[in-house]
Amino acid sequence: MQDAIWWKRGIVYQIYPRSFQDSDGDGIGDLAGIKSRLDYLVWLGVDAIWISPIYPSPMADFGYDVSDYCGIEPMFGTLDEFRALIGDIHARGMKLIMDFVPNHSSDQHSWFRESRASRANPKRDWYIWRDPAPGGGLPNNWVSNFGGPAWTYDDSTAQYYYHAFLSQQPDLNWRNPQVREAMHDVLRFWLDLGVDGFRVDVIWHLMKDPYFQDNPPNPAYVEGRPEIESLLQVHSTDQPDVHSIIAGMRSVLDSYQHRVLIGEVYLPIDRLMAYYGQDLSGAHLPFNFQLLQSAWHAGKIAELILEYEAAIPDGGWPNWVLGNHDQPRVAARLGEEQARVAAMLLLTLRGTPTLYYGDEIGLGKVDIPAHSVQDPWEKNEPGLGIGRDPQRTPMQWDASAGAGFTTGKPWLPISHDHGLRNVVMEREDPGSILNLTRALLALRRSSRALSVGGFALLCTRGDVLAYERRGAMDRFIIVLNLGSHEQHWYMPENITGEIVLSTRNGGADQEAAAEIRLRADEGIVIRCHR
Ligand code: NOJ
Ligand code: MG
Repeated sequence: MQDAIWWKRGIVYQIYPRSFQDSDGDGIGDLAGIKSRLDYLVWLGVDAIWISPIYPSPMADFGYDVSDYCGIEPMFGTLDEFRALIGDIHARGMKLIMDFVPNHSSDQHSWFRESRASRANPKRDWYIWRDPAPGGGLPNNWVSNFGGPAWTYDDSTAQYYYHAFLSQQPDLNWRNPQVREAMHDVLRFWLDLGVDGFRVDVIWHLMKDPYFQDNPPNPAYVEGRPEIESLLQVHSTDQPDVHSIIAGMRSVLDSYQHRVLIGEVYLPIDRLMAYYGQDLSGAHLPFNFQLLQSAWHAGKIAELILEYEAAIPDGGWPNWVLGNHDQPRVAARLGEEQARVAAMLLLTLRGTPTLYYGDEIGLGKVDIPAHSVQDPWEKNEPGLGIGRDPQRTPMQWDASAGAGFTTGKPWLPISHDHGLRNVVMEREDPGSILNLTRALLALRRSSRALSVGGFALLCTRGDVLAYERRGAMDRFIIVLNLGSHEQHWYMPENITGEIVLSTRNGGADQEAAAEIRLRADEGIVIRCHR
């Protein structure tokens, strides 16, 4: 497998740094905390760690508002600690992927302070400033992703600036070559320190329509949904010239060895594919969020896998995501039983999987009382059920009051179930979702078929989804019951094998019968005899 580059054969684990491990009792996770848990990640079997933003930030959007691209937020640690952390990660054979947030900075970034200082400031054009509309008022109808207008008026210079997110997150003007150069320097700064790649925040947002035309209304908009959905984002995102910008970043990475560029892209499959770039000059891995958005139905999932597999450009590498800090947790959506099946799916599909911290212990629904709400989006558009705090609660390491996460008051509530759902207890329980996840990771890492082999869909019927992974030396069949009723499935003719993993206790280590009985919510992995 050594011939396949690490980001193809490996598994990425996302850490939301505020919630992984606190080391100093301030209730907020930090670098020293991450460092103290590296051996856990080795034990779990991940290959690469992606850490959500740890740059200096006023935390209006919890780090996605960066006020210095080349520093470390003091609440998380120091640059020296960061250097040491990379060393520790590499010493354990793992990789480190940084979050990179180039679409917007914090309004407290010195670039923006200069830009807003006067119309004549050399950095004025580093951001997107527009005159009021001819009769006065907003330059166009664009809406912020967090609700309200995407333009904020600056009294002293009598122009509006554009922000796709909070007003504290002004969008940078990527049409300005100085911005591109400055951002390339940022990439080089971290690459020189040894980081192995970047996950680029809202990469499909970087370029906007040069004429700033109004976005058309969304005919499918449903009242009660977030305001951003009321318009189709055709002029504010996914512009054709974004690809040359991405190719520019990519060429910076390519001047180093073995670095990965991952792009955050929420677009349908046909649009998503463009983010591999012309002749694969774009992102190595444009994030594939299809599983997050699909109904949990075998037929639907089979369809989307086939559509995705068929759409990938020649030489492009697939990837799959089941959870992140913006989306409801998989166990909250599907319940723990199906969360196990989902883990088996994620870790046996063809393509690099990204695992979200906490999903491996089955962290599920966490109620956030009104007085504990932190997410600015939830604060702006309360009551729509879009709050992202539930998927950002502290990691549950043990049964103690602070769940082993903190000795202080955690910045978000810890799930009430942490007395039973925690790493210490699940490690001891052979039937836990944690041990299942670990076994799946180990199997994937040990098998050429599972990590880099081919994919073929076998028959799907009702709640059953079945597929094959095949390498030169080994072959597996995965059969998943996405429902809560017992199912029967017939092995393909002339194939025999042994069930090596089941999502349910007691299902593994037996010969696969010609007719397989799948219990409710059961997924199995069969190692085929050649
Ligand atoms: C996407 C990030 O994942 C999300 O958490 C953030 O709020 C927005 N981009 C704005 O940076
Ligand atoms: Mg701390």
